[in-house]
Amino acid sequence: MENITLNNGILMPILGYGVYQVTPDECERCVLDALEVGYRHIDTAQAYFNEQQVGNAIKKSGIARKDIFLTSKVWLEHFGYEECRKSVLVSLEKLQTEYIDLMLLHQPFGDAYGAWRALEELVQEGKLRAIGISNFYVDRFVEFCNFACNDWTRADGTIVKGIRPAVNQIEIHPYHTQSQQLEWMQKYGVQPEAWAPLNEGRNGIFNDPVLLDIASNHGKSLHQVVLRWHVQRGIVIFPMSRNKEHMIDNFNIFDFTLSDDEMERINALDRGQSAFFSHQNPDMVEWFVQMVEARKKPEGQNVQKKW
Ligand SMILES: NC(=O)c1ccc[n+]([C@@H]2O[C@H](COP(=O)([O-])OP(=O)(O)OC[C@H]3O[C@@H](n4cnc5c(N)ncnc54)[C@H](OP(=O)(O)O)[C@@H]3O)[C@@H](O)[C@H]2O)c1
Repeated sequence: MENITLNNGILMPILGYGVYQVTPDECERCVLDALEVGYRHIDTAQAYFNEQQVGNAIKKSGIARKDIFLTSKVWLEHFGYEECRKSVLVSLEKLQTEYIDLMLLHQPFGDAYGAWRALEELVQEGKLRAIGISNFYVDRFVEFCNFACNDWTRADGTIVKGIRPAVNQIEIHPYHTQSQQLEWMQKYGVQPEAWAPLNEGRNGIFNDPVLLDIASNHGKSLHQVVLRWHVQRGIVIFPMSRNKEHMIDNFNIFDFTLSDDEMERINALDRGQSAFFSHQNPDMVEWFVQMVEARKKPEGQNVQKKW
């Protein structure tokens, strides 16, 4: 497995397994399957409501904790210093671990600055090895890297070292290649991670003639070609599948190379816009606000997706 070195020097496998939309009922089995296939990098989040099952699977697998790279994300209702700190301690408990390798702020809204200070402290305390952000599109990304990551002083006068995000996890796939975003992340030394690396199969991507043609040239599946394209762009991926055969397929992408011409043909599939929604759309920002309110209620786990 290829590793990426993050800006604080720690290593992260470039390929992992993500558990968004994997229900608590099936999550333990799915993560155990993924670990058996060979994945050693799991991407979960507070908002996926399956941290407990991810923790159970890691425990049951018998694989040493140090051999697994574990990411989770703080959800919006836990933003702000106090709430963020408390929520990370809960995540540690659910994940049944002494430390999380990478903790992200899941969305670019609300009191992300306060939440970031809590994460910086938790790094100092050894509970988090690296911290990052997600869905910070270019204006907010640049703002955050410049204004949120400076040293700060606690009430008792001690100084907490400011930390620049190690990663920014954003939507990236052949229909939304995000070239401009990637240039900005490179400028700031922040590792890009792709969510929906397979575009969740949307917009007919699994029947795309260009991708099918390239796949047949290599005797590989279309999915392997897409994942290989990400890896050759230096982007960290963690495709989701509930199907063990698909997990195996997605894992076997290190035995072939796409040519420059094939990379360009895939880059040219870019449609220049999200296949889901824009974080810059004010209607969507209001939807997030309403979702946070709903999730504060006991029955609020099942908020309907708008996209
Ligand atoms: N930060 C964020 O806001 C954010 C947002 C979305 C996702 N994420 C992270 O990114 C991860 C991946 O994104 P995603 O789950 O949205 O979508 P994805 O990985 O792009 O696509 C998942 C879909 O592709 C299918 N699939 C996967 N491998 C396949 C294969 N080899 N052959 C055929 N079908 C295949 C799966 O179906 P089967 O189950 O049938 O294989 C599933 O329907 C998530 O799990 C999560 O960890 C983060």
